[in-house]
Amino acid sequence: MAAVGSAVGLGNIWRFPYEAGQNGGGAFLLVYLICVFILGIPTLMAEMTLGRMAKTNSVEAFRRMSSHPVFSRIGYLGVFSCLLILGFYTVVAGWTFQYMWESVSGGIEGMTSEQFSQSFVEFSSSPFQPIFWTVLMFLITHLIIIGGVQKGIERASKFMMPLLFVLLVVLCGNSLTLDGAREGLSFLFKPDFSAINSSVVLSAMGQAFFSLSLGAGVMITYASYFEKDVNLPRTVTTVSLLDTSVALLAGVVIFPAVFTFGIEPTQGPNLVFVTLPNIFAQLPWGSVWSFFFFLLLALASITSLISLHQVVTAYVEEEFRLSNRKSALVVSCLAAVLAVFASLSLGVMNDVQIAGMCLFDLLDYVTAKIMMPLGSLLLCVFMGWRLDKSELINEVTNHGTLRWRLAKVWVVALKYVIPILITLVFVNELGLFKL
Ligand code: PHE
Repeated sequence: MAAVGSAVGLGNIWRFPYEAGQNGGGAFLLVYLICVFILGIPTLMAEMTLGRMAKTNSVEAFRRMSSHPVFSRIGYLGVFSCLLILGFYTVVAGWTFQYMWESVSGGIEGMTSEQFSQSFVEFSSSPFQPIFWTVLMFLITHLIIIGGVQKGIERASKFMMPLLFVLLVVLCGNSLTLDGAREGLSFLFKPDFSAINSSVVLSAMGQAFFSLSLGAGVMITYASYFEKDVNLPRTVTTVSLLDTSVALLAGVVIFPAVFTFGIEPTQGPNLVFVTLPNIFAQLPWGSVWSFFFFLLLALASITSLISLHQVVTAYVEEEFRLSNRKSALVVSCLAAVLAVFASLSLGVMNDVQIAGMCLFDLLDYVTAKIMMPLGSLLLCVFMGWRLDKSELINEVTNHGTLRWRLAKVWVVALKYVIPILITLVFVNELGLFKL
């Protein structure tokens, strides 16, 4: 459940719809699903296997399994990715607090679609409010982290995730009755093949890794706490199925509403925060729905934030021999500084652009579309080529006590299929070579 907690979060409910909206809807969804099955699931299996074999943090895991000068250092990339993700994820997580606040203070009543959109832009670009919520998010995450690893995380995940799921299903039912339901569903589910290009493929691949928390060492770290008898293939299947269904549910909630309320599907990170209030505003007891939804979304983001934070903290703790409290404090402070700038980059610091993007967009782009696929690529090459095949199969089958018919196929995927496909997507996007 903790692994599901890490995977399910803003990636599914905020990032998936906005990426789908920007990348042609159905075309994106199709490529995304292919990426989850061919790249995501085997990579998740690889991370969990490595974590349970090495039983240590994600940096040390590679070091323990190899003395190779490059391969033993792959873990650093993941830690760095987690730190950068914390830098923008916490900002978005903070937005959910604002919406909870607005729901109870009556802010969503009687507004038009345009007003919702305007008020979101005003809020997210203002210098103080979003930063206040971001800092509060850091505080909560920090307190959970220093309260101990398993207890806090597991206790929280166990009741929050199922509730979120139920609420999404109910909201789906509601969205299907909207006037724009047909249009929304056909946008999401009817792929326009001519819309598939290299940037759609890169975005879909990045989304698959981001959503499953891959290529950042999270699942390595979590699996290091697994018992010997955990059924890895089953765990991996559960995590990926739940994660993917939450993204699909979010899509079914959002797109009918997008077309009903005349919202631009391509507007990016704002999409969900502009669409959801429209949905709640037309429901009876709208503010109550809205409050609970954003509460659960906040909780879902916290279980992801914990996993990101834990990777960096576990590393700092062991590498610099600091106490858990001190390491967590270092991580919270570093990430909070980054997050403050990321939040400001949507408003007063918007003209500071790097590679044509503000800091917020840059962090999102670089982590999901470059660092996480690269981390996954290196991990697969490492597992496939540096580790002993029979040892891997031994680990996934709990020393032969479980049967997993796909074990051999999985090893082939690690050795060849995944590295080749990720490389092709990168090379294609760079324009070095056109498929
Ligand atoms: N998978 C999380 C989500 O979908 C985000 C995340 C990415 C968490 C990377 C940990 C590591 O919200």
